[in-house]
Amino acid sequence: MTDTSTFPAAAPRDLRTLLQDDPGRFGRFSRHLGDMLLDLSKCAVSSEDLAALIAHARDKRIEARRDAMFAGRPINESENRAVLHVALRGRIEDGYKDAAGRPVGDEVEGVLKAMTAFAEGVRTGAVAASDGRPFTDVVNIGIGGSDLGPAMATLALAPYHDGPRLHYVSNVDSAHIADTLKELDPARTLFIVASKTFTTIETMTNAGTARAWIAGSLGESAVGAHFCAVSTALDKVAAFGIEESRAFGFWDWVGGRYSLWSAIGLPIMIAVGPANFRAMLAGAREMDRHFADAPLETNLPVLLGLVGWWHRAVRGYPTRAVIPYDQRLARLPAYLQQLDMESNGKSVDTEGRPVSVSGPVVWGEPGTNGQHAFFQLLHQGTDVVPVEFIVGARSHEPSLQAHQDLLLANCLAQSEALMKGRTVEEAKTQLLDAGRSEEDAARIAPFRAFAGNKPSITILYRLLDPATLGRLVALYEHRVFVEAQLFGINAFDQWGVELGKELASQLVPLVAGEGDDGAKDASTRGLLQAIKTMRTT
Ligand code: F6P
Repeated sequence: MTDTSTFPAAAPRDLRTLLQDDPGRFGRFSRHLGDMLLDLSKCAVSSEDLAALIAHARDKRIEARRDAMFAGRPINESENRAVLHVALRGRIEDGYKDAAGRPVGDEVEGVLKAMTAFAEGVRTGAVAASDGRPFTDVVNIGIGGSDLGPAMATLALAPYHDGPRLHYVSNVDSAHIADTLKELDPARTLFIVASKTFTTIETMTNAGTARAWIAGSLGESAVGAHFCAVSTALDKVAAFGIEESRAFGFWDWVGGRYSLWSAIGLPIMIAVGPANFRAMLAGAREMDRHFADAPLETNLPVLLGLVGWWHRAVRGYPTRAVIPYDQRLARLPAYLQQLDMESNGKSVDTEGRPVSVSGPVVWGEPGTNGQHAFFQLLHQGTDVVPVEFIVGARSHEPSLQAHQDLLLANCLAQSEALMKGRTVEEAKTQLLDAGRSEEDAARIAPFRAFAGNKPSITILYRLLDPATLGRLVALYEHRVFVEAQLFGINAFDQWGVELGKELASQLVPLVAGEGDDGAKDASTRGLLQAIKTMRTT
């Protein structure tokens, strides 16, 4: 069970007081890695709390667990697998080895080289469509980790995009593939079928539809030229009819939600080119080296994880919001939902015993849009939601500097407002100063008051370039790892997705009006009946 009783400062702290009483707080509660800054000074954690948290991390053997991950030990115990996504962005001299002690660096580099040759071919037109013309559009078909990372990164790196147009189809809803294909010319479209297992029903269904679309308009013989695949199950790729030279592999020590650095990143590489893809890997490696080597006290992922765990386990906040003030990080919250919630949303610890608390619900939308939607609740609702602000000092549009200034001002204003709030008295004075009557001011002031004392974290970087994106994503990956150790959870399995999959396959014939629904509950039977009625009337 997660034990939080050892914390001397589980009592609430007043953020305003912490900041007022300690002019050096920003200096002591913010940390850099290169030009990335993590500011924790607006979290209600005192120096003593932080020291207690670091001691707790040591008790939980964070360093030993981290070293075991980097050493390729099978720390994903329920699946007896190593967890080595860090090797995907390592250098040969980093010496990563798998659970059997076999060096993996050469194989990783080999796949990167094969991806590079293929991506360059697609970008230059050397890898061409069946009629010999270059591809104008590439559609990645995948879901979960085989979609979210590449989709998030492709958008994030839009200013570096100089390859063919990229599209992502994930949902089994026919609307997704139909709306995507409607805009495309089959003669100029390449499909990447991305699936670690090559069995995921959504991906296989969409891939089948895409295959029929190509075969139907260009002939069966065109299929080979218009498909490639990324998977750990290369036998299944061959059975689908994709030739070996167009299949890019990875390994069982790469979890789906940690796979964007592997061949799953092929669409990113096609979009932005191999050099930018490598720069993203290099940024992630920089964070890996920092996580592996820096003392806990100055270690960004450790500090982010400790404060995240503090908010969830000690303060009991059930959710956290991730608000990128960077429109190109619009898919980051969705990406982090899988990374965090599929990793740490577990009810048992690594020994199979119940845990009292697991990871929080993660959600978010870009700022400033969120301000005009749900920030009302963040400021005046009765729940405390720690917010993570993510923002660049610079934009890629220097000619539109006024936009970036406004964006930054809004970002800083929100964290300041959450922290400071406004008392009823302050609200009343403002109203009186604006010329309202005493009676009016007293009546309206409570509506204009903000409790304040709401924690937030800010991650500030210079510019969202490929290396920065790599650093940012690796920061969050390692943060999830740190929190998992504190919760006592295995962050690398995902048994919780299985039951729904099993039930869905039982329900397919029933939805199609075949078979007997007698074993189903009354609600499911009622819904099946309503579907039948709506389809036939
Ligand atoms: O259902 C969850 C999951 O297994 C994720 O962990 C994974 O990222 C996703 O499905 C897709 O799996 P695959 O890459 O094998 O198609």
